[in-house]
Amino acid sequence: MQKTILDVRRLRVAFRGYPAVNDISYQIKQGEILGIVGESGCGKSLTALTTMGLQPNVMQASGEVIFDGKNLLENTEKQWQKVRGEGIAMIFQEPMTALNPVTTVGEQVAEMFELHQGCNKKEAAEKAIEMLNVVHIPDPVRRAKAYPHELSGGMRQRVVIAMALACKLLLSSQMNLQRL
Ligand SMILES: Nc1ncnc2c1ncn2[C@@H]1O[C@H](COP(=O)(O)OP(=O)(O)O)[C@@H](O)[C@H]1O
Ligand SMILES: [Mg+2]
Repeated sequence: MQKTILDVRRLRVAFRGYPAVNDISYQIKQGEILGIVGESGCGKSLTALTTMGLQPNVMQASGEVIFDGKNLLENTEKQWQKVRGEGIAMIFQEPMTALNPVTTVGEQVAEMFELHQGCNKKEAAEKAIEMLNVVHIPDPVRRAKAYPHELSGGMRQRVVIAMALACKLLLSSQMNLQRL
């Protein structure tokens, strides 16, 4: 039996008392991949955003999102910041809005290592190139110096994946990128 990593219980996300997500429960076990499918507007994005504490301020979330033995819905903003990037990462749909247009992609991936793993600038830059290689970006040393608009859409998406994978938990375990 694999360990349960994420346990969402009776999650409800409401706007002015009206539920946009109504009573959803699901568990994700170690090594498992879960797909959530549904028509546009049924609440998929809100469900995912709430597991990272990123739902709009006007929304009230109730129920439980258990991760690492704690109900994340009780988190303070400071506690959320630790979860994001170190525990749970999100790969956003639109890489152009997820990336900073005025910073090179190498610096943006490196920043994850500086913020979450306490690497110095040099180490972080090296790890960023390693990560770009891991997500199969060709010529990563040169690409690291590129700005988002200089890459193709597919490469930008890979940069965002590299940022999500810069997560401590994933790096410390054996990475098997064939599975991506
Ligand atoms: N900021 C917001 N304010 C009010 N309602 C919102 C907001 N964001 C999303 N909603 C509503 O919540 C519902 C679920 O949206 P969403 O999770 O984005 O759907 P999906 O990702 O499944 O297409 C929709 O009815 C949408 O209109
Ligand atoms: Mg959506």
